[in-house]
Amino acid sequence: MSEATAVLAGTKLVESVEYFAVAHTADIPPGWVLKVQVGNREVALANCDGTFSALDNFCTHAGGPLGNSRLSDGCQLECSWHGAHFDARSGAVVSGPARKPLRKYTVKVLDGTVYVALVSKGPLDD
Ligand code: FES
Repeated sequence: MSEATAVLAGTKLVESVEYFAVAHTADIPPGWVLKVQVGNREVALANCDGTFSALDNFCTHAGGPLGNSRLSDGCQLECSWHGAHFDARSGAVVSGPARKPLRKYTVKVLDGTVYVALVSKGPLDD
């Protein structure tokens, strides 16, 4: 756990955000997705070309699991139940039958450890 400090427009703001250490970077090679537990949530932690992202582990179509898999077609999460594809960087739907994006969470990498905070980000926040 750690506390984040944000500096916006010259004003120092202190956020109280709880980060959970969930994995070592070496545990998730590029192209892989690991299911991790963050507090009371299951999260799919993806490594897309060296950039880590954390998304809900359950497909928005009918709840199929997304973690413990490989990325396909570049950086896409594929649901094994009915084949929906999501962009692993944003959570946006690439192809159905899912229609709603995956919830995305805040990720930090520090000294080889991946931390996730249960702070939601929308698909267009990055
Ligand atoms: S549950 Fe994922 S595509 Fe249907």
